[in-house]
Amino acid sequence: MGSTDYYMPSADSPDLVIVIPTDAERIECLDLNGQEWKGPLNSAQYIQRENHLINQDITRDGALTCWVLVDGTLPPDDRPILSSCESFSKAAFLAHGGHVEDILAHGVGSVFCRPEFRGRGYARRMIAELAEKLDTWQHEKTARGKSVFSVLYSDIGKKFYAQFGWKAFPSSHFSLAPISKEEFGSDIAGLEGVAVRDMTGEDVKQFMCSKAVINKYREILREASKCSKTSKVALSPDFEHMSWHWAREEFYSQALLPERGVPNIKGACVEDCRVFVTWNRNFGNKKNENTLYILRCLYDEPTSPSEEKPIVKALAGVLFRAQLEAHEWDMDHVEIWNPTPLIEKAVKLLSPDTEMVHREKSSICSLKWNGASLGLGDEVDWFWNEKYAWC
Ligand SMILES: CC(C)(COP(=O)(O)OP(=O)(O)OC[C@H]1O[C@@H](n2cnc3c(N)ncnc32)[C@H](O)[C@@H]1OP(=O)(O)O)[C@@H](O)C(=O)NCCC(=O)NCCS
Repeated sequence: MGSTDYYMPSADSPDLVIVIPTDAERIECLDLNGQEWKGPLNSAQYIQRENHLINQDITRDGALTCWVLVDGTLPPDDRPILSSCESFSKAAFLAHGGHVEDILAHGVGSVFCRPEFRGRGYARRMIAELAEKLDTWQHEKTARGKSVFSVLYSDIGKKFYAQFGWKAFPSSHFSLAPISKEEFGSDIAGLEGVAVRDMTGEDVKQFMCSKAVINKYREILREASKCSKTSKVALSPDFEHMSWHWAREEFYSQALLPERGVPNIKGACVEDCRVFVTWNRNFGNKKNENTLYILRCLYDEPTSPSEEKPIVKALAGVLFRAQLEAHEWDMDHVEIWNPTPLIEKAVKLLSPDTEMVHREKSSICSLKWNGASLGLGDEVDWFWNEKYAWC
């Protein structure tokens, strides 16, 4: 139904509620927001993509919830959708006072209001309702019974979501140019002898997401919380997260580049230095939007200055491999989010003039902390605030 067929209620009306849409309403939402987000896909492909993504390990069985703001006095399937969004329930960790807990945390995404309805306060009302809803949504069976934190990635700057509790956290990245093997060769000055190896999805599972690795990271959080009053949280950097990003890139590559086959190289490593990165390819609509994102970067912090140099070289080696891969897949950039000081050194080794970008408007990593009301203190540190956690 066209928007002019509807009476547009006031955003302050007590009749407005957020509810889970019917199947037909969910498709209506996708028809509408596809205009904004389908990129190079057509509308049917975009709906297929969303149906594919809702059936991944991290999203299936109700872990992904679609929400719509509607007038609750009107019947389902015959009410205007005033605004829409999604929440993902994800595995996460909380460490406080030397203890670490496995918890659920929500990620919020796809916040949308159709163009004809914009500027009337509907998104504002929806997010206010959502903030309250997510405090207990899907937490009935969790130990705390209440949400400890949730995240979102704002594309509309730092102010709007902050009013509802989602505070802006560090949102920086380095952007590296793709590099052609033919023009450049496969080696770079200073990195001779760095044994970079490609990784498949199975390699990533083994080296970056095994139970032992995840436990090790759980332990790092616990240790960090021992001598700090500030709670530490992280989205679990698990295989389900990585696979969801790959499901996305594989859908695009099959839809847009069927002759190329699916991209099987999912990352690179220097095994003897225990340096690993995993990535995905993002296929955008406009020029300059194709990006190979480093989803997660793993290495052991050096314990002495002499250990640092080989790690930095190995990091540079895997990032260089990412640049070659970006060129192979016609990506415009390689992006690595919230780089650590060692990653910064590796980037400078590859490209001394590269400046860190501090994003002010798009992909602002934002976190809503409910810990104060749970006796966990007013402040929180977000560990591994990397691209894998994006939704
Ligand atoms: C962003 C969007 C959901 C806002 O919907 P809306 O119903 O028009 O929003 P509201 O009327 O409730 O206004 C929300 C606030 O967001 C602000 N806002 C809206 N679009 C904005 C933008 N592109 N940049 C910065 N702020 C923006 C409005 O100025 C308003 O602030 P105010 O209350 O201080 O005046 C809508 O414009 C949209 O769907 N855009 C395309 C998709 C998108 O970018 N989604 C956001 C992903 S994080």
